[in-house]
Amino acid sequence: MPLCAASLVPASPRTEYRTNPLGIDVREPRLSWILNPTNPGNRGLAQSAYQILVASSPQALASGNGDLWDSGKVASDQSSLVVYRGRPLPSGARVWWKVRVWDQAGAESSWSENASWSIGLDPRDWKAMWIGLDENGPKAEQPLPARLLRKEFQLDQKPKRATVYVSGLGLSELCANGAKVGDDVLAPALTDYDKTVLYVTYDVTDRLKAGRNALGLMLGNGRFYAPRMAESRTFGFPRALLQLEVENDDGSRVTIASDTSWKLSTKGPIRANNEYDGEEYDARMEPEGWSAPGFDDSGWTAAAQVSAPTGVLASQNAEPLRVTETLKPVKATPHGDGAWIFDMGQNMVGWCRLHVTGPSGTRVSLRFAETLKPDGTLYTDNLRSAKAADYYTLKGGGTETWEPRFTYHGFRFVEVRGYPGTPGVDALEGRVVHDDMERIADFSSSNPLLNSIHHNIAWGMRGNYRSIPTDCPQRDERQGWLGDRSQVSRSESYFFDIAAFYTKWMRDLEDAQKPSGSIPDVVPTYWVLYHDDVTWPSTFIFVPGMLYDQYGDRRVIERYYPSLKKWIGHMRGFLKDGLLPKDQYADWCVPPEDLKLIHSKDPARVTSGTLIGTAYYCGLLDLMARYARIVDQFQDASEFEHLAGDIRAAFIAKYFHPETARYDNGTQTSSVLALAFGLTPPDAKAAVAKELARKVSDESANHVGVGLIGAQWLMRMLCETGRADLAYTVATQKTYPGWGYMVERGATTMWELWNGDTADPAMNSGNHVMQIGDLGVWMYEYLAGIRPDPEKPGFKHIVIRPYVSGDLTYVGASHQSPYGKIASRWERNGGKLKLNLSVPANTTATIWVPGDPQTVREGAGPAAESHGLRFLRADSGYAVYEAGSGEYAFTSELAEK
Ligand code: BGC
Repeated sequence: MPLCAASLVPASPRTEYRTNPLGIDVREPRLSWILNPTNPGNRGLAQSAYQILVASSPQALASGNGDLWDSGKVASDQSSLVVYRGRPLPSGARVWWKVRVWDQAGAESSWSENASWSIGLDPRDWKAMWIGLDENGPKAEQPLPARLLRKEFQLDQKPKRATVYVSGLGLSELCANGAKVGDDVLAPALTDYDKTVLYVTYDVTDRLKAGRNALGLMLGNGRFYAPRMAESRTFGFPRALLQLEVENDDGSRVTIASDTSWKLSTKGPIRANNEYDGEEYDARMEPEGWSAPGFDDSGWTAAAQVSAPTGVLASQNAEPLRVTETLKPVKATPHGDGAWIFDMGQNMVGWCRLHVTGPSGTRVSLRFAETLKPDGTLYTDNLRSAKAADYYTLKGGGTETWEPRFTYHGFRFVEVRGYPGTPGVDALEGRVVHDDMERIADFSSSNPLLNSIHHNIAWGMRGNYRSIPTDCPQRDERQGWLGDRSQVSRSESYFFDIAAFYTKWMRDLEDAQKPSGSIPDVVPTYWVLYHDDVTWPSTFIFVPGMLYDQYGDRRVIERYYPSLKKWIGHMRGFLKDGLLPKDQYADWCVPPEDLKLIHSKDPARVTSGTLIGTAYYCGLLDLMARYARIVDQFQDASEFEHLAGDIRAAFIAKYFHPETARYDNGTQTSSVLALAFGLTPPDAKAAVAKELARKVSDESANHVGVGLIGAQWLMRMLCETGRADLAYTVATQKTYPGWGYMVERGATTMWELWNGDTADPAMNSGNHVMQIGDLGVWMYEYLAGIRPDPEKPGFKHIVIRPYVSGDLTYVGASHQSPYGKIASRWERNGGKLKLNLSVPANTTATIWVPGDPQTVREGAGPAAESHGLRFLRADSGYAVYEAGSGEYAFTSELAEK
């Protein structure tokens, strides 16, 4: 058989946990691959069948022996999230797999490269005990130093395979034979430790040898031992569970598990550590070689057995946090009394790596802030009680390089004090830290302001991934506020591959659900806030839909459907006369009348909480009806719809003013919600849209006039009601309020408040994603025009409909979909438009080409005659075609405006 007889070659085989396929505890993981055309010029390429082989060794796989699973030739076009249906996989097993496909003509491809995943430890196979020290040193000293744990052991052979499973709470760093294991940081991921405790899996085969070996574990406080604020829950003293499984060539096995034979010390170099306050490190206290064999630990105590956290032990099935980028400061400026101010040039999240030479005992301090005061010193008022400072004490005797382990900061500026000598700009490096999801953001346009806004969105998002989606990374908060991610999560899906991240958060959300069905506003519930409002908890309902639309993942809906339904049922109990008077935050952070205010006091700007709660609940019922159909609960679906119908009628009766086409007191948000959730009388939709546009133009002078709630839908509603031009104007204002104003004022991330440069620091973060709303969605789905078809989700069928807006002369963007890269680039020159598209193999697309249908050409001829295209209709100023995969180059003439 010739290689690649088919027009397609399967590449990048992967499980759903792309960069972290170790220790998966889902017994039926799903397998995906991308199809690369052998000739990119071909169109309409599709998979007609696949065969997957899964084997217990690379040798078996190479000889074509799928001893765990041979799917056989399956007639199917599915190439994403194919469920493993092979033999049950034993605890700890590592498996290898590959795939081949048949194309639309039935020609067979070569095999893909090999991929692999491993299974986590079955609960029954855990032999380890939780160890630690349930006290704060002899004098109950505050703060708590990081504990060091170590264990030496003998191996008779060089292992064939060695795997460590470890949960070090709150945070831990594993070392083997003297050096750090893995490249992740701030592990394990955050959870409510009373409900779920995550362990991380490392392959240490190459790190162990025949003879003496040692493991060391540094244990930090994280959010487990979190006694810094009254409102924060704390779970106890740091503790760890660790199991090393060694397999030898001769079939023998060795298990090393945490127990009281491990040694513990509180005299390590990390003297204090707290995520909010920083880390204190005394390099003089580094026990040289503590995680290598041969270290004298006679002065250490035996680790104590401590109680197990009550949460269920589970594998961290999501990407870990890593240092993903290192920034060089743009300048270092002396600032009187020995202080230096370093400017990273970018509001970033993570920490600094320090390079320093000096005498032993010299103490260098690093303090962090997002902005400077007019006198050039750090502005820290908006950090509230977070101390955000690291301290390093030198051991002396050469160049020392250090970075903290168990803290992180949100900052652009660093104040350095106590630095011996004059620090060069290279004395510090900015280490950017977040969940290491694939970064896919790719957008550019002819408007530099829009490109800067895109930059700020991307940095805002990455800075708020801390194994949970946080509100902010700098002040004493950093919580998983649900409301902030409502539709922002859909925006995020164009910037990062967030599938595993949000799947993990869904588990956290369900963990937080009370038996009554109640869902809180913050998850994990480090702050316990159950208000039974509609808007913040509604994110629990929205996220599964986002994962379904953007990734084609129905498992999340299937798995959580009962819990989603339970919350909907719980909230139903608060209905009164068809309205839902349960709201906590209103339209959070609307542009206020006074630039110093955080929240508006002007009744004309405040949308009624009952209006918001009712509108949302109605929209959520429609969404639940959709989910119910996906999971074949048709009775539920009609009940949800029925109730939505009643609420819709009550809402319109209560709030709609037909004479003005406004709702209630006429805020922009009330109109936006009515449009977003279908709450307009059928014959009044156009009037409502027109009135919204008038308000935006007249009352806000073409600026943003909404807060968090309105911002989740505003851009889409303007575009969907024929005002894409207005959406563009609003998005690109340079004056207050708007995203462009932030750029003009020097922001390199997104602010919490539209008036973030003037408002009270009590709640004024420079790095908040909530006001992004659907702005990211607008850039990719509307300006570039790339969006999934909800009927064939996950971009199996793509709708490409660019909105040629404002004075833009080009927009180019791509999206890394489960089927590969979708690209769209349009360019306008006077009345002529060029549109270049790339539709990945094994997908189809409906393409809306802007312009007069008579003028649309593709390649060298009329588009309607072009191979692979089928003209469907002329619609709203577009020529609409059905297309298979391939590259397309359209031209058209735009109608005169
Ligand atoms: C957080 C927000 C959050 C809000 C709700 C703030 O302090 O930073 O992002 O959604 O509180 O009350």
